[in-house]
Amino acid sequence: MTALKPEIPMIEVCDVVKSYKDQIAVNKVNFVINHGDYVALLGPNGAGKTTIIEMIEGIIKPDSGEIKIDGLKWAGNEKYLKSILGVSLQETRFMDKLTVQETLKLFSALYNTSHDRVDDIIRQTGLGEKKNSYVDNLSGGQKQKLAIGISLLNDPKILLMDEPTTGLDPQARREIWDILKALKLQGRTMILTTHYMEEAEYLCDKIIMMNSGNILAEGNLRNLLNRHAEGGIIEITAETEPNALALYDLINSINGLCQISEKKVYMKSATPVPLLKKILSLAEKNDIPVNNLQCRSMTLDDLFILMAGRHLHE
Ligand SMILES: Nc1ncnc2c1ncn2[C@@H]1O[C@H](COP(=O)(O)OP(=O)(O)O)[C@@H](O)[C@H]1O
Ligand SMILES: [Mg+2]
Repeated sequence: MTALKPEIPMIEVCDVVKSYKDQIAVNKVNFVINHGDYVALLGPNGAGKTTIIEMIEGIIKPDSGEIKIDGLKWAGNEKYLKSILGVSLQETRFMDKLTVQETLKLFSALYNTSHDRVDDIIRQTGLGEKKNSYVDNLSGGQKQKLAIGISLLNDPKILLMDEPTTGLDPQARREIWDILKALKLQGRTMILTTHYMEEAEYLCDKIIMMNSGNILAEGNLRNLLNRHAEGGIIEITAETEPNALALYDLINSINGLCQISEKKVYMKSATPVPLLKKILSLAEKNDIPVNNLQCRSMTLDDLFILMAGRHLHE
């Protein structure tokens, strides 16, 4: 009997390090992405998301460690790997005096892909009504759809999307999400970078939380929250930042799992109600006014604050 061949992961990132002068942008990062999975690199500015994406794209090389895509390293496999990757950069510049359709045809010629896909891509990205509009006249969301369209020209197995919705309004963001969701049904694999937890939650099977070049936690949404969020989160808003700091010092002496961010103090607790009572009586005793108080289930942003001491986005 022949043994079953274990499936090769779509992307393997193994002990990857990248520094810029004395700044470590990516610090020994490891992860594996399987066929058909949508994975979010979720983290604030400077977390190292773009650096990782650019190393997978082959634009920059790791200082050490290894990246394999469909089981292959970049060296010696450039042609094949370019044919299976679709890339949308954090910012794309277009030629303003070309229409949407002309832009797609131009990139199609540059990438040596068939023009046949252009009309289909215009449809898939919801740009039908805009196909004869100059790129100059597109909204931010429409430009982003065009960037996604360009990434689809080679009918890629893997999509690398660097902050596809940053700065867009909620409606445009939602439209991009729908486009990316439909691409998932076609069996594509995707890495998406974002600092919006809702985006990671809505689109991705797996979430990799990053800060300062390190992976803080990874798993699917339920696993991440279950693993780290027994009980609930208490969020207390003080009147001023010094008051918040005073409150933080008091709470820290009775509950180690707390963090402060501006006027808010956050803590995780398996037994939030008695803890809340204790905190309120301490605040009263010490004359610290409390403006607002919440007790709720943990979100990915709470988890991030507890682990990194800062929000996913400012
Ligand atoms: N070309 C570069 N030269 C110097 N430092 C860089 C360069 N690119 C990124 N960095 C630094 O590396 C860190 C990670 O950046 P980046 O990967 O762009 O993070 P993210 O995409 O998560 O915002 C940041 O501290 C950033 O300033
Ligand atoms: Mg970035």
